Amino acid sequence: MKTTEYITNSSEETKQIATQLASTFKGGEVILATGPLGAGKTAFCQGLGKAIGVKGIINSPTFNLIKVYKGSKFTLYHVDCYRLENADEERKDLGLDEVLGDKSIITYIEWPNFGNSYLINYHPVIKVELTYIDEEKRKLVITDER
Ligand SMILES: Nc1ncnc2c1ncn2[C@@H]1O[C@H](COP(=O)(O)OP(=O)(O)OP(=O)(O)O)[C@@H](O)[C@H]1O
Ligand SMILES: [Mg+2]
Repeated sequence: MKTTEYITNSSEETKQIATQLASTFKGGEVILATGPLGAGKTAFCQGLGKAIGVKGIINSPTFNLIKVYKGSKFTLYHVDCYRLENADEERKDLGLDEVLGDKSIITYIEWPNFGNSYLINYHPVIKVELTYIDEEKRKLVITDER
């Protein structure tokens, strides 16, 4: 278990750290991203996507729950559980058990605490925790359980 802390001064810097992390991926990584609205969770995913060869634009999947992007290295599943906050257990199950850990897939999950308990208890994961310091500054803590 390795924990690394950063202060990032722009969304570009956040994406760059994501790109660095993505260079260590072997396939099957599961990333749980936490932090308040606008902290930079989706920005981080954009950096990951670029590094794994996703050509399209990665934007918030809030109204879709899951978006799938085919990259040249891996397929990226971008999941946002935000809208599941008040859902019952059954609706929280996004059917990700087939996806998590698949060696051809990288799964990035925003607001995992609003998803079902299977997500929260899944291991190993890489936790990305973003906190707002000011308009352009964020604290970023990456805990890598691999
Ligand atoms: N250091 C930084 N790191 C990341 N984003 C930053 C930073 N500074 C400013 N920003 C801006 O903050 C916003 C982050 O938005 P983003 O959609 O990534 O947040 P989010 O955590 O995914 O929010 P939500 O919970 O609503 O999905 C973007 O507009 C981005 O440009
Ligand atoms: Mg987001």
